[in-house]
Amino acid sequence: MANTWTPETWRSLIAAQQPDWDNTEQYNKVIHEIAHYPPLVFAGEVQSLKQQLAEAANGKGFLIQGGDCAETFDEFRADTIRDKLKILLQMSVVLTYGASCNVVKVGRIAGQFAKPRSSNSETRENIVLPSYRGDAVNDIKFTEKSRNPNPKRLLRVYHQSAATLNLLRAFTMGGFADLSKAHIWNQEFIANSPQGQRYEEIANRIDDALTFMEAVGINPETHPALKLTEFFTSHEALLLGYEHAMTRRDSITEKWYTCSGHFLWIGDRTRQQDGAHVEFLSGVNNPIGIKIGPSITEEELLALCDKLNPNNEWGRLTLISRMGADKIRKILPSIIRKVKENGKRVLWVCDPMHANTYKSKSGYKTRHFDTILEELEHFFAIHKAEGTVPGGVHFELTGDNVTECLGGAREIDDTDLGIKYETACDPRLNNEQSLELAFLVTDLLRGNR
Ligand code: PEP
Ligand code: CO
Repeated sequence: MANTWTPETWRSLIAAQQPDWDNTEQYNKVIHEIAHYPPLVFAGEVQSLKQQLAEAANGKGFLIQGGDCAETFDEFRADTIRDKLKILLQMSVVLTYGASCNVVKVGRIAGQFAKPRSSNSETRENIVLPSYRGDAVNDIKFTEKSRNPNPKRLLRVYHQSAATLNLLRAFTMGGFADLSKAHIWNQEFIANSPQGQRYEEIANRIDDALTFMEAVGINPETHPALKLTEFFTSHEALLLGYEHAMTRRDSITEKWYTCSGHFLWIGDRTRQQDGAHVEFLSGVNNPIGIKIGPSITEEELLALCDKLNPNNEWGRLTLISRMGADKIRKILPSIIRKVKENGKRVLWVCDPMHANTYKSKSGYKTRHFDTILEELEHFFAIHKAEGTVPGGVHFELTGDNVTECLGGAREIDDTDLGIKYETACDPRLNNEQSLELAFLVTDLLRGNR
């Protein structure tokens, strides 16, 4: 860490993608209040995640990171939180069983409320209003009042994140995530599908193994690893005022942590090497991700590695490539080579969602299952060719049976998109498509190791 860093040094730099909080007095009051709230996560948990990411970077584990593009205040219910946890647990069981590796589970949850936008404004029928920037900032409804940034929303972000995290902790600590419960994570909607049945077979075999182990005295009480209790949270660290207000110094190690979530990433639109986001995150000790899109240069990436991981620690830095199925083969290999040649210790993760988005004929923003799979296939093949480790995947998904992404076993087509299109931002894989991808990623991972 550059020793000139303080939690304030970002303030003198340009912060891209920040809302115009025109009510400064109220904004400052809110930020001041949040700065006095308790942390949502603790340094020990964050360190444990970092350790597991370090292992994944070395091929001894695999990261599944997934959840909504944008969490919303409306979709704040126990069942939606539970179903997101269920699908991530199912995916992790499929991978753990099929590829025999520890799966690190990280949700895009309990804090993913702010969105970068390609345009500051949106025009509909000659009316120009500020773009929707996530529920942390404004309301998606297209009226002046709704779109005006409202600082009070940040208080709601904190409280909803706290309650979501509380429920996740209750589910995972309270036994819901024990391997012996693998059957109950299979949801009704998918249970009868080919994926659901394939999953059910794995759950049966796990049951057999658990029965055998129980007979020889191994159970979740004697071996806590049988409880998949470790579930971590993540979000894009976009709103620097909020992230700064959530930053605390750990009393034991005296290191700084942003306590709004375990893992924070810098988006593709805010990764300027001399920008405020990079500066701010360079000094906190959470594991950090950077989204890298097709415009990244080798020099920029090396500079980012130096700035964000000056001690070259394993587990500190995750590079989440999101190049697009059409561009990945052209761009990623030389970047990987450069990072490797320079001895940079990173975890490579593939986000096959964000560069494969387009507007369908029916007008919905969508992504095709086959294109998502194609980017993943290239990602694994490139790492195999380069002798590097494909360490994880990053998805936008939901536990619900929405119709937002095309394709998959049920062959969702353009005319189906309107049936259940509910995302506040980007299209998400539904539960069945997510499980199907978990099986396919398992095959890819097996092929690589
Ligand atoms: C996102 O993850 O929702 C996002 C906006 O990603 P990116 O920065 O890669 O575009
Ligand atoms: Co998104």
